[in-house]
Amino acid sequence: MTPFDPIARDSNRTDAFWMPFTPQRQYRQRPISIASASGMSYFTEDGCELLDTMAGLWCVNAGHAQPKIVEAIRDMAGRLDYVSSFKMSHPGAEATAQALTNLAPASIDHAFFTGSGSEAVETALKIARGYHQARGDGRRTKLIGRQKSYHGVNFGGLSVSGIAPHKRAFGPLLGDVAHLPLPYDERMRFSIGQPECGAEYADWLERLIAIHDASTIAAVIVEPITGSGGIYLPPVGYLEKLREICDRSGILLIFDEVITGFGRLGEYFASQYFGVTPDIITCAKGLTNGAVPMGAVLVRDTVFDAFMHGPAETIELFHGYTYSAHPLACAAALATFAVHQELRINDHVREIAPIWRNAVHALKDAPHVADIRTAGILSAIELTPRPDAPGARAADCLDLCLAAGLLVRTSGDTFLLSPPLIIAEPAIGRIIDTLSAALSEVA
Ligand SMILES: Cc1ncc(COP(=O)(O)O)c(C=O)c1O
Repeated sequence: MTPFDPIARDSNRTDAFWMPFTPQRQYRQRPISIASASGMSYFTEDGCELLDTMAGLWCVNAGHAQPKIVEAIRDMAGRLDYVSSFKMSHPGAEATAQALTNLAPASIDHAFFTGSGSEAVETALKIARGYHQARGDGRRTKLIGRQKSYHGVNFGGLSVSGIAPHKRAFGPLLGDVAHLPLPYDERMRFSIGQPECGAEYADWLERLIAIHDASTIAAVIVEPITGSGGIYLPPVGYLEKLREICDRSGILLIFDEVITGFGRLGEYFASQYFGVTPDIITCAKGLTNGAVPMGAVLVRDTVFDAFMHGPAETIELFHGYTYSAHPLACAAALATFAVHQELRINDHVREIAPIWRNAVHALKDAPHVADIRTAGILSAIELTPRPDAPGARAADCLDLCLAAGLLVRTSGDTFLLSPPLIIAEPAIGRIIDTLSAALSEVA
């Protein structure tokens, strides 16, 4: 009798894996199955090398299969496979929190660990409401997000997100939510770095306050640079103005740095790059170089301290995850910080970012290019859509790039580029040449 083999059996059930954010049925016709990864590249099951222009999914900042990170995870797996962080701890958790808050802007001194960016956002929103409650100001419950923002897929994050197709099927979402407009318009097309005009978009916060009253608003959450919604930089002065209005109105400011954290702009956090410190930072992805799932919420002393009242034996924050501060994630995070320092990744990004930016902007006159937005090693190249088929032109380019060994990510008709931060000039040249050839070829 043939022995039961669950793996062979499952390989015939191609839909067993319900894939996230994927056209499931189309994927089965054109699968991309990755068997291994190293440095800047993926290797498919059938042996093709693909240059990764997305750092996995905005996370593998120090390059794939980074030996020190791999070794740290392997070592920890053999020593401490799991321990809860509910009423106990482990040395890696304490060390990661300490190291992470040392990298964060001054006065951000506390880290709460989660298992992902979405969980970090949910946690931040709950901390914001809990903060006001703890201070006796429980009327402040409203949350303000922004058009085109992505804050993950759980109900809180989805409610403050600003991308309609992500929300359409899942309502009702949180009711106490309003949105700022995207601080972007025609005047800003092809800006080099932050747009010089547009700080006045922050005045929309004043308008929302006039509608809702500051005394009902808990927090404003923005990505310092809108990421998966299309890479939109804040106009000069915009974040400063948001900060000033929040301060004046007693509203907490949350920066979602799930993409911009850990060197993407040549600083550990975009807050440092832009010189604006929020009250709460959410991060994930590059925190462990993508090698083990982990997110974190970093908070200012004032936020943390507001919870630290009442009898010492009471739980101050009724919130947490089974995988908060998982030992393997902490090992990966600590190794990631060490690699960042050893390879001087922030310095490297600062040096190579102008070369990257000039190379990307050289596509300005390529066919179909409608706009280019770039900061650090993070860029969008937006194409004019075909009138009858939005997204089709970029999809055709994507196929040509794949055939040429380049893995690119598109959102609608926009290329989103965010390669590993260890990128050097030859890889930049290859990315731009391949994109340029693809743009010339598509109709
Ligand atoms: C800004 C931002 N916030 C939150 C998330 C959600 O993170 P995760 O997919 O780890 O839940 C993402 C994911 O891309 C993101 O870009």
